[in-house]
Amino acid sequence: MQDQIFAIAVDGPAGAGKSTIARLVAERLGFIYVDTGAMYRAIALFCLQRGIQPEDETEVCTAITEAHINIRHQNGTQRVLLNGEDVSGQIRTEEVGNTASTISAYPAVRTHLLDLQRELAAKSSVIMDGRDIGTCVLPNAQAKVFLTASPKVRAMRRYKELKEKGEMCNLQEIEQDIIERDQRDMNRAAAPLKKAEDAVLVDGSDMSIDQVVSAIIEVAKGCGLLVKSSVWR
Ligand code: DC
Repeated sequence: MQDQIFAIAVDGPAGAGKSTIARLVAERLGFIYVDTGAMYRAIALFCLQRGIQPEDETEVCTAITEAHINIRHQNGTQRVLLNGEDVSGQIRTEEVGNTASTISAYPAVRTHLLDLQRELAAKSSVIMDGRDIGTCVLPNAQAKVFLTASPKVRAMRRYKELKEKGEMCNLQEIEQDIIERDQRDMNRAAAPLKKAEDAVLVDGSDMSIDQVVSAIIEVAKGCGLLVKSSVWR
C-alpha cells in the first residue's frame, strides 16, 4: 500500500451519497473516513440544546467556544463527541441538518472546526467529505472528487431512507428542502460549496453505489494512489 499519507477530498451537495460512498472507499483502501458534516451537525445540536437561534450569528459564535468536538473511530465508524458525549445518533435529524446548514455559513464556526479536520488528515490517509474539503480544508489533497446527483434523485433516496426508518415524510417537501439547502450551501460567502478546479466531477444520478466507489478509486489511482491487490474486496 501507499507509504505516504494520501488524502481524497469528496465534496458535493446534501444527499449525493457522499458518506455511504466515502465509507466504502475507506474500507476498501484501508483509509480513515472523515465526515466533516457530522462536526457541523454536532455544533448545530449544541446550539439547539442551548436554545440558541441559529440565525443569530453573534450568539452562535460566542456560544461555540464552549462546544468541544472530538472524533473517534470505532471499527472504521466515525463517532462524534460533543463535550465528551457521543452524539453520533442525535445529529441525524432533518432539524439538525438544516441548522447545520445555517450555522456553517458563519466564518467563526468554520474556523472552530478547521484545525480538527486538518489534524485528522495529517495523521493518516483519509477520505474526507464535506462542502469545502478540496477548496479550503485540504487544498493539497492528492485526489479531489465533486460528487453530485440531481435534486430529484437525491430527494428520492432521502425519502426511501426516512420511510425505512418509519418516519412520516413527503417527497415534494424533501426535494424543496434539498434545493433550499443547496442554495444556502452554494451561496454563502464563507467557503461555499463549489467544485475545486482540479476536482473530478462524478454525477452519480444513474450510477450504482459500486460504480461510484470504483469511479472514485480510479480517480485516486489516476492521482498517484498505489493499491495492493490484497486490499481489494
Ligand atoms: O453533509 P451533511 O448534510 O451532514 O452536512 C450538514 C451541513 O453542514 C451542510 O448543509 C453544510 C454544512 N457543511 C459545511 O458547510 N461544510 C462541510 N465541510 C460539511 C458540511
